Amino acid sequence: MRIVVTRRIPEAALVELRAAGKVWMPEEDRALEPGELRKAVAGADAIVSMLHDRIDASVAEAAGPGLRVVANVAVGYDNIDVPALTGRGVLVTNTPGVLTDATADLAFGLLLALTRRIAEGDRLLRARQPWSFHLGFMLGTGLQAKTLGIVGPGQIGQAMAKRAEAFGMHVVYSGRSDPKEELLRQADVVSLHCPLTAETRHLIDAAALKLMKPSAILINTTRGPVVDESALADALLAREIAGAALDVFEREPAVEPRLLDLDNVVLTPHLGSATVETRTQMALLAAENITAVLAGKEPPNPVHR
Ligand code: GLV
Ligand code: GLV
Repeated sequence: MRIVVTRRIPEAALVELRAAGKVWMPEEDRALEPGELRKAVAGADAIVSMLHDRIDASVAEAAGPGLRVVANVAVGYDNIDVPALTGRGVLVTNTPGVLTDATADLAFGLLLALTRRIAEGDRLLRARQPWSFHLGFMLGTGLQAKTLGIVGPGQIGQAMAKRAEAFGMHVVYSGRSDPKEELLRQADVVSLHCPLTAETRHLIDAAALKLMKPSAILINTTRGPVVDESALADALLAREIAGAALDVFEREPAVEPRLLDLDNVVLTPHLGSATVETRTQMALLAAENITAVLAGKEPPNPVHR
């Protein structure tokens, strides 16, 4: 069995994969270019893919008829053309569950960093600026009794709600089929936890931002294209909303340049699941999905039934 791993993964998962077949992994730790990816997968029975790999019909074709499974090391799988693969009899799996807490922790951390001006305060000190404690110095806003609006009440959205409730926040939800307008009007904090699909692309556009309170903030830890990043920069500059904290970007790894100059914006480089524990569990789960399929068994996490 030929197993292609598109980018370095934790050793524990490689051990599992090596027991199931011959593993190929690129030497350099960087995203493969589309051409390199197609070349690498030739003759593969299984592919372990990353969220930055576009896996479509051309990749399946390049792999050839032996391809049986693509295991994405992520809960999101918007990078995979699932119908194109299933149409060829290829199973697609993801890694739900194991990154729920890590991602909710980061989303809540971003919320605190923004409302309590943690990143901004850190920048101030590093700039060697003079400062002194006084009662009006660098005031943020409290979370207690504020309303958190969760867009996408899945596992991560619910974990975010649990954290918010522990901080004394009131939580409202909006799911796939609910209208978003009421939530956007009510919420002091809007946190995005829906997957990226055709329906959620630019869910937060200029019109949605206009519905939000001028005192409200936006948190995005799901996928960049759920937000129209240029419209967000416009809204922040026009003070239509009070701030934003983003872990994901519309054109990753690029960031809308106007956001980089704003003090009421906190930015992190797609770190939602980035803990040693979680990344190891994600890679192990991907390996488990691969070994199940190669052994002729049902994988634990197919994205389609
Ligand atoms: C990370 O962004 C994931 O989808 O797991
Ligand atoms: C703040 O530092 C306080 O002691 O209240």
